Amino acid sequence: MLAGRLEHGGESKMAYVIAAPCINVRDGACIDVCPVGCIHGRQEDEQFYIDPEDCIECGACVPACPVKAIFAEDAIPEKWKSFIGRNAGYFKKWAAEPPVAGRPGKT
Ligand code: F3S
Ligand code: F3S
Repeated sequence: MLAGRLEHGGESKMAYVIAAPCINVRDGACIDVCPVGCIHGRQEDEQFYIDPEDCIECGACVPACPVKAIFAEDAIPEKWKSFIGRNAGYFKKWAAEPPVAGRPGKT
């Protein structure tokens, strides 16, 4: 099956992806180190997400996360592959009204 390849909507661009360990943690350290500000979330979201359109694949966010939630798209564990679509889908959902960058979980 080519499902893994097709999951990304046929786009060739790669990106980093935030997976399950971020859920209900939302540490936010990744936001502080991302040079292009492509990590977003809203107060009510269970995790944060990386915008695959803006991610420049620098890898800076990976060591910043205390729960090791961030992976390169081609290195994400099989059990968390669905998070590739979850991250990308989040931004499609909010295309008309993008979420604000920042630390929505911390006030
Ligand atoms: Fe940002 Fe680089 Fe990660 S662009 S999302 S810090 S890979
Ligand atoms: Fe989540 Fe880790 Fe960032 S817990 S908000 S991916 S630093």
